[in-house]
Amino acid sequence: MINIKKVKYYPELRQVAQLADEIWHECFTDIISLGQIDYMVEKFQSLDAMTNQIETQKYSYLAVYDDEDLCGYIAVKPEDDDRFFLSKLYLRKDKRGKKIATLMMKRVFEEAKKYGKKSVYLTVNKNNSHAIDVYKKSGYQIIDSVVTDIGNGYVMDDYIFSYTL
Ligand SMILES: CC(C)(COP(=O)(O)OP(=O)(O)OC[C@H]1O[C@@H](n2cnc3c(N)ncnc32)[C@H](O)[C@@H]1OP(=O)(O)O)[C@@H](O)C(=O)NCCC(=O)NCCS
Repeated sequence: MINIKKVKYYPELRQVAQLADEIWHECFTDIISLGQIDYMVEKFQSLDAMTNQIETQKYSYLAVYDDEDLCGYIAVKPEDDDRFFLSKLYLRKDKRGKKIATLMMKRVFEEAKKYGKKSVYLTVNKNNSHAIDVYKKSGYQIIDSVVTDIGNGYVMDDYIFSYTL
């Protein structure tokens, strides 16, 4: 049974960091360089980085369990305006294609509504074609694109998608 629940600090957040490291190194290998994956995992998904996001940037992490198996995670953040930011949506490879992503997306919409938000937005790498298909299927629309300099000579070349609640 799938259970999606708010991440408690340690040790669960540490387990999410380990899972993030595993998934990012698997899913981004054909999209960005190994150097950039290592850099981004450290900058955005290390235990320190995630702790900082939760404590100072209003992020929440949700863990996805299939029975006792931690197999995915979500990160979200309410903006100061009427938008809700879907920052991370990650599922381990062996759990994909099983309708779990649809449950994850439903949960994101519920969280956004709890905060009284009117839309959910996200950024996705322009070459991440599967995720783009999933977002389109979920009803998101491309509203813009953005190139973000993340330091060390790396950029994120993304589409911005939005879903009106
Ligand atoms: C993004 C991610 C969470 C999606 O999970 P998933 O299990 O692969 O998603 P699914 O294959 O179940 O697809 C979700 C829905 O989109 C639909 N879909 C997928 N590909 C599609 C396509 N090419 N055309 C139309 N619909 C499509 C599926 O049919 C499904 O809808 P359904 O549940 O009604 O059948 C997962 O692929 C993942 O973790 N990827 C690696 C990390 C990543 O890229 N994250 C996003 C970063 S922005």
